[in-house]
Formats: sequence, C-alpha cells, structure tokens
Amino acid sequence: MIEKINIDPQVETIVMPENLRVGLVVAEHRKKCLNAGCPFDYAGLAFGQSPFHVPPPLESALCEHAGKGHYSAAEGIAELREAIAGFNKRNFKLEIDPARIVVGPGTKDLIFTIFTMISGHVIIPSPSWIGYAPQLELLGKHYHTFHLRPDCDFRIQPADLDQFLSSMTHEGKQHLLVLNNPNNPSGVVYSKEELGEIADVCRKNNTLVLADEIYALSTYEFENFTSMGLIYPEGTFITNGLSKDRSAGGYRLGSCILPEKADDKLAEDFTKIAATVYTNVSTPTQYAAIAAYEPSPEIDEYFAITREIHRMMGLFMSEEFNKIQGIKATTPQGAFYFYADFNLLTESLKKKGVMTSNQLGRSLISHPYHIAVVTGDAVMLRPEDYGARIAFVDYDGRQAFERYKKNPPKSKTAEIDFVRDNAPQMLKGIEYLKKYIDYVVS
Ligand SMILES: Cc1ncc(COP(=O)(O)O)c(C=O)c1O
Repeated sequence: MIEKINIDPQVETIVMPENLRVGLVVAEHRKKCLNAGCPFDYAGLAFGQSPFHVPPPLESALCEHAGKGHYSAAEGIAELREAIAGFNKRNFKLEIDPARIVVGPGTKDLIFTIFTMISGHVIIPSPSWIGYAPQLELLGKHYHTFHLRPDCDFRIQPADLDQFLSSMTHEGKQHLLVLNNPNNPSGVVYSKEELGEIADVCRKNNTLVLADEIYALSTYEFENFTSMGLIYPEGTFITNGLSKDRSAGGYRLGSCILPEKADDKLAEDFTKIAATVYTNVSTPTQYAAIAAYEPSPEIDEYFAITREIHRMMGLFMSEEFNKIQGIKATTPQGAFYFYADFNLLTESLKKKGVMTSNQLGRSLISHPYHIAVVTGDAVMLRPEDYGARIAFVDYDGRQAFERYKKNPPKSKTAEIDFVRDNAPQMLKGIEYLKKYIDYVVS
C-alpha cells in the first residue's frame, strides 16, 4: 500500500520561481485589501511579461498551421532553422550555418540543456535573472555568484572577471559565464568594446559564454547592440526567442546558436537531449514561427514601435525612482527592467524591522503600499543587500501601441505625457512608493 509519495531531495533545493511566488503573495493581499474596501489594487512591477499583442503575421500563421499534428525534428524543422539563420544575418550580422541552430520550447529550456551538457563550473553575475540558479540547483551543478559593483552600474568589469576566474581551481578548469545582454534586471547594454574585453578574459581563462540575448531587439538604440556571437564566435552559445520582442512567451519557442568551435558531436548531443526530454517543439508553433523570422516590414515596424515605448516607459520610471531620496536606480538601455538600490536607507529599514532584501519585497507589497517587485535571493543578492528588480510593463500594451502608431510623441514633454496617459497604474505605483519611503524614514 502506498502511504506516502517520496520526492527526490534534489527537488527540495529549489523553490517556486520568485515572479510566480510574488504573484501568489499579490493575489493574497489583493483579496484581503479589496475585501477591506482598499482603494488601490497594486502596482505590478514584478512580472516581466511583454505588454504587447502577438504580431499579426505570427498569429495568423499559427491558425494556418494548426492542422499540422505530426511530430517533427527534435532540433527544429529545417525551414525554421533557415529562417532563423536569415534573421540573425539581417539583424545581428551573424553568418550562421543552420546546422548550428537548435530550436527549443523557449530559451529557458535551451539554457537548461546547455547547463546539462557543459562540464565545469558556471559563473552567474549578480544581480541576475531569476531563472539560472534554480536550474543549476536542480541539476546539482556547481555555480558561483559573481557580485557586480554598484559604482560601475552593475556592468561586468573585465579585470574583476579575470581575477574571479583565475581564482577558480576546480578540475579541468572549464567555466561557463552567463552573459545576459541587454540585462535583466539592470537594463544595461554592453558596448562592442566591453564585449571584446570580456571575450579576451574568457579566452585567457578557458571560459565559454552563454549569451542570453533574449532582449536584443528591445535595445533602445538598436544600432548599438552587438551580439557576443560576433565577438567570441568560437566560445559562445547564443540563446534568443519569440517571448520578449515578439510578445509570444506562451508560444514557447526559442533558439540556440552553438559556438563556431562546436563539432557535429555537440549538435548531436543537443538534439539527443531534446529528443529525450521533449521530442520536439509544437509543430504548428514551429511553422508559424517562420513568419516571425522571415523579412516582414510589419514585424520590423512592430519592433521599432515596441522598443520606443519600452524606452519611454523605462526612462520615465527610472527617473522617477531616482527622484526619491534614498533610492538609486540604473538607467535602462534595453529590455523592460531596471535595478533599484535601496541601501542608502539601510538604517531606517532596519529600524522598521525590514532586515533583509527579501523582507523589503514583502513589506513593499503589504497594505497600504501595494507595490510588487522582485527582491533578494531571487535576483541573487546577498541577504542584507536591499535591492529590487523593477519591471515597467504594467499598462495596456495594445492601446499604447495603437496610440503611438497614430501619433508618436515628438518631444521629451510629449513622451512624458504619453507615459502619463498610458501607464496610470505605474504612476500610482510611484506615489505609493513615495509614501512607503516617507514611512520608512519617519
Ligand atoms: C533574461 C531572461 N532569459 C531567459 C528568459 C526565458 O525566456 P523564454 O520565454 O524564452 O523561456 C527570460 C524570461 O523572463 C529572461 O528574462
């Protein structure tokens, strides 16, 4: 008779991803507050989902291919891999043989496959996206948190990286550096020169790079974006997909470009894992995705409009945060996040019983402040480091898109008006944050 189902202890090492955990906490507070007649719902600065609609050519292609119920190639159908190669050439000047491209169910899964395959230790710069460390914990792999300096805007400093890597002494000494550019949570975008210096350090220290470039096309000055694949082709895995710049996170489709140095064996191993774990990405989604990668003036316009709206929202929000005494926010250059440092308020926070960064997140969401952000260990901060990831996507994206298309703002004042008209909930969030800080310092 089965009395209890025992779970493998490895599973106990991870917790529900923080953005989902915050979602549950928010739902709980919301219910309590709404029942008590509280006037403000909450400012959703935690969940990093694109607010925009799926580009129409992608949506109609999915309907068109809905009947394709057959299984398909584990590494992705050939037509899609060719379209992805063309897309990379047009947008990132990358000349990629489609044989080096593997398609997966979102980049999260592809990142998991890379972590599974590559031996050696992984280096995760912090603050970081919430996804990497739990995957490594689940796999039981060694990883090291590389804390970035606030005085350098949380950008990797090549000399610091060199020192960090040279001090590692594990057997084989192969490392894998996670390089998320544009960065979630800081919004930082690395220049070509910075990437060149980081690549030199990696070459010197036998370090591969996992270049998570999922936000590449949401770089506000897109002409300034350089893929690590151009700078360090022999050692870089590039992951990208439809989730962010084409607002199709739920489609679950991403791609990985294997390093130039990869031999056939690496590609075969990748495919072997894909075939073992998920067989193939949904076949209709793969056929539909071709429309999202082939040349399309409509999708190019979509990229241009959405990145402009992200830029206006991000700059406005980060400026507003910086106006609040005690908070220092990064200025985003891409993606839809910035990082807010609350450490100047350490003493006051402690006096109010907020002893850790995790507790900061909990106290911000509590009544009457209602601000949902991601803090603490989820972004790989030290417990006493009061910081938060701020996502600026809490608005009606379709409406903002249509309004922008009809009447794009032409001055700084018009941009501010655009944000005020389209993102009232985020503005309320700022007001509530000010109240929270007043309470903390009182
Ligand atoms: C930095 C970063 N990498 C990867 C992902 C995962 O994206 P996907 O939907 O392709 O799995 C996300 C999504 O939040 C992200 O922010």
